[in-house]
Amino acid sequence: MVKARKIVLVRHFQGPPRTEDFRIEEEDLPPVKEGQILGEAVYFSVDPFQKGHTAMHKVGDTFYGAQVARIVESRAPGFPVGRHVVAYWGWRDRTVADVGSGRPEPPLYVTPPRLVPHLGDLPLSLSLGVLGMPGNSAYFPLLDICKPTPGEVVAVTGAAGAVGSVVGQIARIKGCTVIGFAGSDAKVKWLKEDLGFHHAFNYKKTDVSTALKQAAPDGVDVYFDNVGGDISTAVMSNMRYRGRIVVIGAISQYNDLEHQKLVNLPFTFLAQQLRLEGCSVARYHDRWEEGISQLTKWVRESKIKYRETVTKGFENTPRAFIGMLRGENFGKAVVKL
Ligand SMILES: NC(=O)c1ccc[n+]([C@@H]2O[C@H](COP(=O)([O-])OP(=O)(O)OC[C@H]3O[C@@H](n4cnc5c(N)ncnc54)[C@H](OP(=O)(O)O)[C@@H]3O)[C@@H](O)[C@H]2O)c1
Repeated sequence: MVKARKIVLVRHFQGPPRTEDFRIEEEDLPPVKEGQILGEAVYFSVDPFQKGHTAMHKVGDTFYGAQVARIVESRAPGFPVGRHVVAYWGWRDRTVADVGSGRPEPPLYVTPPRLVPHLGDLPLSLSLGVLGMPGNSAYFPLLDICKPTPGEVVAVTGAAGAVGSVVGQIARIKGCTVIGFAGSDAKVKWLKEDLGFHHAFNYKKTDVSTALKQAAPDGVDVYFDNVGGDISTAVMSNMRYRGRIVVIGAISQYNDLEHQKLVNLPFTFLAQQLRLEGCSVARYHDRWEEGISQLTKWVRESKIKYRETVTKGFENTPRAFIGMLRGENFGKAVVKL
């Protein structure tokens, strides 16, 4: 009998997650049936959305999330042993699952396992980062919703994270002036010196509005919002005429989703005739490969650089998750099993 280890939720989070909120358990796996595969996890993804998702799960459930797994047994055509899949199986090291199951609509974003394309010499973990969900979360909302044009000013918050670091680089490729906000001086240095951001600021030390008035005296054309809260209000107050805002995340609010304020929209929304749209990447399910193949091309051409913060060891997954929420990651946070 094949055994699996899984990390389950011991209790719902009270504020920021803590290691005591998780427990490791073991289970026996069933035999692989027709249409199913047995996958062994190689990398786990730790993502901000998992924090809010927990509310939809019961205590005792496997903690929900994405992983890259190697197929070790297969009774599913098109999923040969030795290939890898990205699957939303949660934090478990072995899984028997159908290849056809899934539900790619919100609120539960559960796509069926996707075969990882042949990546050549690129790391497999990128399929959880720049060449996976976070990469597409940058690519589609920026290009399809905000449609930046050369010479425009693009501002992004959460700029040194998995999504934000890709947003800024795509905007730079498109000929825009890029302004990033991140939570440490080391991140700011990385954005400016390695990723080619034109301006970057540590939002913990700098007044966002003052920084924008210096870096973009005529205002911001496109705001890619990863964080919400006061930083976003400040950026939205500094938009240019007919500016576009896409709200992808609100990580500054995730510790208390029940008591959020709906603040007055800055007067600039009317004066500057701004457009604001929220977006889940699940919307682009049908165009998934389009984003991944363009991002892969840019990575291979070194037009997009990536960085990963890799935590080693299955049992350290909750710690990696908690660290990412606190801002310990540069680029994509993953766990290597
Ligand atoms: N809508 C979608 O389909 C979709 C898809 C993917 C991601 N997202 C959202 O996009 C955002 C970025 O996700 P990601 O995967 O790229 O995560 P990430 O940026 O790699 O990691 C999270 C980062 O958030 C920052 N942060 C934490 N608390 C903050 C606060 N109070 N204020 C400002 N920044 C804070 C930290 O960086 P600092 O050091 O800079 O503070 C941390 O490193 C998240 O809000 C996530 O939920 C949405």
